Amino acid sequence: MKISDKDIEIGIDIGTSKTCCLIAEIKSEEESNKILGVGNAPSQGIKKGSIIHRDKVMESIEIAVREAELMSGIKVNRATVSISGNHIRGINTQGAIAIQKAASSNVPMEQEITQSDVSRVLELAKAVSLPIDREILHILPQEYLIDTMDSIKDPVGMSGRRLEAKVHLITMAATTAKNLVNCVHELAIDVEGLVFQGLASSIATLDSDEKDMGVAVIDIGAGTTDVTVFYDGGIRHSAVVDVGANTVTNDIAVMLQIGMDDAEQIKMKYASAKASMSSTELEFDLPVKNGGIARKVSEHELSRYVEARMIELIQLVGREISRAGINEQLTYGVVLTGGGAMLRNLVPLAQEKFNLPVRIGQHKNFSGAVDIASTADFTAAIGLTQWNSVTRDMVMKDMTVTPIGKAVTNIKDWVRGLFT
Ligand SMILES: Nc1ncnc2c1ncn2[C@@H]1O[C@H](COP(=O)(O)OP(=O)(O)OP(=O)(O)O)[C@@H](O)[C@H]1O
Ligand SMILES: [Mg+2]
Repeated sequence: MKISDKDIEIGIDIGTSKTCCLIAEIKSEEESNKILGVGNAPSQGIKKGSIIHRDKVMESIEIAVREAELMSGIKVNRATVSISGNHIRGINTQGAIAIQKAASSNVPMEQEITQSDVSRVLELAKAVSLPIDREILHILPQEYLIDTMDSIKDPVGMSGRRLEAKVHLITMAATTAKNLVNCVHELAIDVEGLVFQGLASSIATLDSDEKDMGVAVIDIGAGTTDVTVFYDGGIRHSAVVDVGANTVTNDIAVMLQIGMDDAEQIKMKYASAKASMSSTELEFDLPVKNGGIARKVSEHELSRYVEARMIELIQLVGREISRAGINEQLTYGVVLTGGGAMLRNLVPLAQEKFNLPVRIGQHKNFSGAVDIASTADFTAAIGLTQWNSVTRDMVMKDMTVTPIGKAVTNIKDWVRGLFT
């Protein structure tokens, strides 16, 4: 069967440890989404979301893209790209307008709210003064208020005198974003949208019930951890914590006096996030280099250090979650995703420390090459392919004159889209 080009969505997730290109067929009925191609390359030249070596970043993207092209038989000439890093900030703002009377009428009656009223109120809500070099990445409506009525999702067609919008803004460092987008452009790929990685992971893993009843998505990457808190269908808080799963690898390398590659292997094979759930009896051999002495370490001893670091990360994340001010209402608790979520026994540790239900987030409703992209480190790439269908957003509306301007979408679409 021939796949229509308009159903094809391409995501490029450029992470600290790996770059992933994912090509999927996205249909409006979620059931029929299909992964057609996956390409993966170890990331080089990215550190905590920022480019430190441009050529290496481009090389990683190219390898991932070519692999996905080969698998799917589809040429990648456009993509939705992820962005993360400690330059990302989330803030809540609001704006209010009086609903204009029809020109011919001087009767003080309530007016019907139009799409242009909604655009106007959102323009006001986003008019915060940002420091130089910061730009708005996403404008995400939380709720609208008409006169004294609150919690309105779509005010168009309703009547009132005053319209207020509460929104969550995600801002970023413009230079970091431009450099990232330029790398992709140089490979002759149009950037259709730039999406906060934590938001992309949320799209792939959450259903609307969870977003309504309260949930926090924690994407534990190699370099950073993205936090996104949802309640009542909207985002209440978003942040990037400057600690990722590579910190654990680093700790192991220092503690055991071994190289990072060996430490990474040991972490995957023997580490547990809860030391009490690992054995003092089970020992593993440390790599012997240059005629050194053979050494053994128990899984329990290794895990004690790992647990301490994970508790620190959980505390940092917990601080961010509490900034959303809805701790009591996180009915669905915490969803862990990203490669770091695969650390053995992290779920019971997180459950104990957050005192909330915790689950591992995986993508839903995809068929096709799911085996290759089934683990938690692929959720951001998968979410990127769902971005256009799930939520339309005003991605960098203000940057139309820059090379990133290609990532602009229509204001009407995103206003309508978020709550659908
Ligand atoms: N099975 C596993 N057990 C423990 N840790 C794992 C496992 N698999 C992957 N990881 C860790 O997950 C991290 C990589 O996660 P991921 O691929 O999500 O990062 P990234 O997207 O490249 O980074 P970032 O999002 O920070 O830019 C690495 O630190 C890796 O050690
Ligand atoms: Mg990542």
